[in-house]
Amino acid sequence: MKKIYCVILPIVAITALQANKPSGEKVFKEYCWGCHHQSAEAFGPSFKSIANKRNKAQIMAQIADPEHTYKSLGYKRNSMPSFSDLNESELRAITDYIMSFKDKK
Ligand code: HEC
Repeated sequence: MKKIYCVILPIVAITALQANKPSGEKVFKEYCWGCHHQSAEAFGPSFKSIANKRNKAQIMAQIADPEHTYKSLGYKRNSMPSFSDLNESELRAITDYIMSFKDKK
């Protein structure tokens, strides 16, 4: 009987942790979807094209403070609001979500 708990408890714990973790897709739908789409160009570039040309640090910096990054990314002006109120785990989740659209080599 004890053995069963050794198997079941970790599964319950892991599931509970994942439920707490913000999902990148949720952040995307809540904050980004009006201007960005996953693989199609919208008002802003697609997540696919971003993932293929940037690294995680560049993406995170742009989300948190686009006013200071747009020039280094090659834009003449900034049209994106800053999302500095996203918390650290939401920022990581949305960045991983964007990176998940990178073409597989
Ligand atoms: C009001 C529209 C708007 C919203 C909302 C918006 N963006 Fe943007 N975003 C843009 C535009 C437009 C650009 C292209 C740069 C520019 O013109 O300022 C851009 C650029 C970017 C870039 C850099 C593109 C590159 O060339 O590397 C990233 C990364 C990005 N957005 C992520 C996000 C994420 C993540 C969210 C949601 C949390 C978001 N954006 C919400 C309009 C928006």
